Amino acid sequence: MKKLCIQGGTRLEGDVIISGAKNAAVAILPATLLVDGVVRIENLPDIDDVTILNEAIQTLGAVTKFVDRHTVEIDASTVYEYQATDAYIGKLRASYYLFGALVGRLGKAEVAMPGGCDFGGRPIDQHIKGFKALGAKVEIVDNIIKIHADKLIGTRIYLDVVSVGATINIMLAAVLASGITTIENAAKEPHIVDVANFLNKMGAKIIGAGTDVIRIKGVERLNGGHYSTVPDQIEAGTFMIAAAATAGDVCVKNIIPEHMDSLSSKLREMDVQILEGDDYIRVIAPEKLKATHVKTLPYPGFPTDLQPQMLVLLMIAQGVSTLVESVFENRFQYITEFHDVGANIQVEGNKAIVEGVEILHGTHLTATDLRAGAAMIIVGLRAEGETVIDNVRYIDRGYEDIEHKLTALGAKIYRI
Ligand code: EPZ
Repeated sequence: MKKLCIQGGTRLEGDVIISGAKNAAVAILPATLLVDGVVRIENLPDIDDVTILNEAIQTLGAVTKFVDRHTVEIDASTVYEYQATDAYIGKLRASYYLFGALVGRLGKAEVAMPGGCDFGGRPIDQHIKGFKALGAKVEIVDNIIKIHADKLIGTRIYLDVVSVGATINIMLAAVLASGITTIENAAKEPHIVDVANFLNKMGAKIIGAGTDVIRIKGVERLNGGHYSTVPDQIEAGTFMIAAAATAGDVCVKNIIPEHMDSLSSKLREMDVQILEGDDYIRVIAPEKLKATHVKTLPYPGFPTDLQPQMLVLLMIAQGVSTLVESVFENRFQYITEFHDVGANIQVEGNKAIVEGVEILHGTHLTATDLRAGAAMIIVGLRAEGETVIDNVRYIDRGYEDIEHKLTALGAKIYRI
């Protein structure tokens, strides 16, 4: 089992280049199944989730070729297979995007139900509500979701919950439907805008992505073309927090600073200096951080995917902070791992009350999911002594070359 080993106590200094967005890439790859032609996608992150989804679309008939580490050419003109039931498909939460893409292209899909990190159950009722509203029949048999539609007809869909996955999945199913589909109470994350921009580049007619009302006018077919994914908001935020946790001075490059506004404003509240350029943010952090209060919310609120990383910052801030997780019902399980680190955290339901401490102690930690794994790296960077992190595979799902990027910033981190 691969582990990461970190000697804490070094300030991070220098530049880091952010990769393409994981949560855009894992939607755009399945979305290529809708395209009756050749697609070239650039700025893909070189991460395990992309590798797995690339294999999945190949089994469905797409011909894919990696031109380089970050660029893939996909010919989906011969997509014929509507069944993706292999066990590995279910392991990846983002495999649910195969539902919308296959139903949109072929009118049917049989896909293993999605697994992925478990923050207290991750239903897909809003995805199913959308497919049914478009005229599809949906049933779940032996953990396989079977969707069938003779014809997809545009309609109005109101999401009961602001859901990134459901918003994107309904968009995928609607681009080739007949008529107009309106998604209300839609999620507004940057990766949703990126998927809409990709589909429009391929000939779709989508307006309103990034607002809470998205309108899709069905078209006959999507042609080929090329696209470059948006920079990863969560990777960028992870490095900004790592810089703040080590009293560092780091320039996070190749990003869209506006995507980071909620985190930048929280870091400023903590006395961190944030200097914004066109495509970078420089983080200059003091030795002593001020406590603050954070609540995760759908975009443009504070991202739930930066919640574990932010908790580590609050663990070493001066004073009492609070962190409320309002997106997932239980995304604090990882906190039990911090028992020996010396943190002072009280969890009451979906609220963590954190009394900052001076010292964190390096110890043995086990990553429970992707973002908790990233938070454990930040603990290791800040803690005294050595930290060993198990289950690094979780981290590799969403962070490209994390130890190399951190080593370039002066961190003492290596894989064993
Ligand atoms: C996406 O998950 C991301 N995953 C998650 O990132 C991210 O945490 C989440 O959006 C919120 O931003 C990918 O993009 C692959 P949701 P998703 O549907 O789509 C409830 C990471 O680390 N809900 O926006 O599963 C749900 O239970 C991962 O990159 C329903 O009730 O999230 C949750 O409480 C972790 N019914 C809330 O909505 C549904 O049908 C938000 O979930 C769908 C969701």
